[in-house]
Amino acid sequence: MINIAVLGYGTVGSGVVNVIETNHSKVNQKSTDEINVKYILDLREFPGDPYESKVVHDFNTILEDGDIKIICETMGGTKPAYDFTKSALLKGISVCTSNKELVAQHGPELIKIAKENNCNYMFEASVGGGIPIIRPLNSSLTSEDVDAITGILNGTTNYILTKMENEGAAFEDVLKKAQELGYAEKNPEADVEGYDAGRKIAILTSLMAGKNMKFENVYTEGITKITSKDFDYAKAMNRTIKLFGLSRKENDEYYAMVSPFMVSKDHPMAMVNDVFNAIFVHGNTLGDTMYYGRGAGSLPTASAVVSDVIECARNIGNNVPVFWDAEDVKIKGVDDITHKFFVRVSSDKKDAALRVFGNIETVDSVVDGEFAFVTELMSEKNFKKSADEVSIISRIRLVD
Ligand code: HSE
Repeated sequence: MINIAVLGYGTVGSGVVNVIETNHSKVNQKSTDEINVKYILDLREFPGDPYESKVVHDFNTILEDGDIKIICETMGGTKPAYDFTKSALLKGISVCTSNKELVAQHGPELIKIAKENNCNYMFEASVGGGIPIIRPLNSSLTSEDVDAITGILNGTTNYILTKMENEGAAFEDVLKKAQELGYAEKNPEADVEGYDAGRKIAILTSLMAGKNMKFENVYTEGITKITSKDFDYAKAMNRTIKLFGLSRKENDEYYAMVSPFMVSKDHPMAMVNDVFNAIFVHGNTLGDTMYYGRGAGSLPTASAVVSDVIECARNIGNNVPVFWDAEDVKIKGVDDITHKFFVRVSSDKKDAALRVFGNIETVDSVVDGEFAFVTELMSEKNFKKSADEVSIISRIRLVD
């Protein structure tokens, strides 16, 4: 029997217990031993819960038990998750986590500690919820030089954008619904300002490079400025709006960004709706691969955590290599990255816009008193300079 502990009995932690119970025969068979949830750490009591007797409030009970082989860290945040994870790994206890904040901030250090202590730090659930993406990058695509990753990496914002598009729903109402469904982070700012997707693309870029992409080096823009008028324009242009996290390798430099993009309705990402995520990974000899599934929610995320538990159970006393060194990647600044931009200005700025932006493609205005257009490919730096001269209402990057 392999005894495990679950830290945090919230949305994901309770999902982990549920998946292990629901799929116990499969989980045990594939682990090649029985997985037993011995402890659940939480500050709260859970009277009447079938696992009530397993709930403990002191992490040391778990650490000092001597017979815990695997811990599922589903607490979120870095405090106290970092200290708990580190102390467990130092004792040779493997840790499986859904905590992208901790992985993005301390991934290389925790991976190294796991290696030095013949155990594992696994984080499949930290990106893409239930979608297998970490293991493909770390094991299946090892023969590739991965040079581009593009993803819809946040379920909450994809859910919000889908509802805004299809139902003309107000941003706040849809956000509330996403929180009720257990998709959103405790602090919704992390989702809607793009920080959550930023942490996820930082993790993916680090695995792509084998070196560290700091979250602080990811250019991050969220969806709070997207309005129903933007969707009216997008519709008129046969496009939709999606929040993308993307990273690129150019020569030996990397850049990563999170931003809303207007995409053609024919683009495969345009068909990724609601809480679903999708990730394109491009390898130099392989070409494109695409990964798709539920990007948030209790059971899909828990399923990924449990897949890590099984992998750790098969590797007790053995470290599975993860290629993510502490050394920073060489960063390419976003200033020189080029995109086309969809731009809205007030009608009286039309002449100035034509003069400053030069070769533009006019978009039929769907809002009285506005002039709208698409620029040619421009660098971020040049776009900003031009936009400052004309004083624009808004802009959204385009992908074809
Ligand atoms: N808040 C996150 C999301 C949860 O909406 O994608 C899954 O990481």
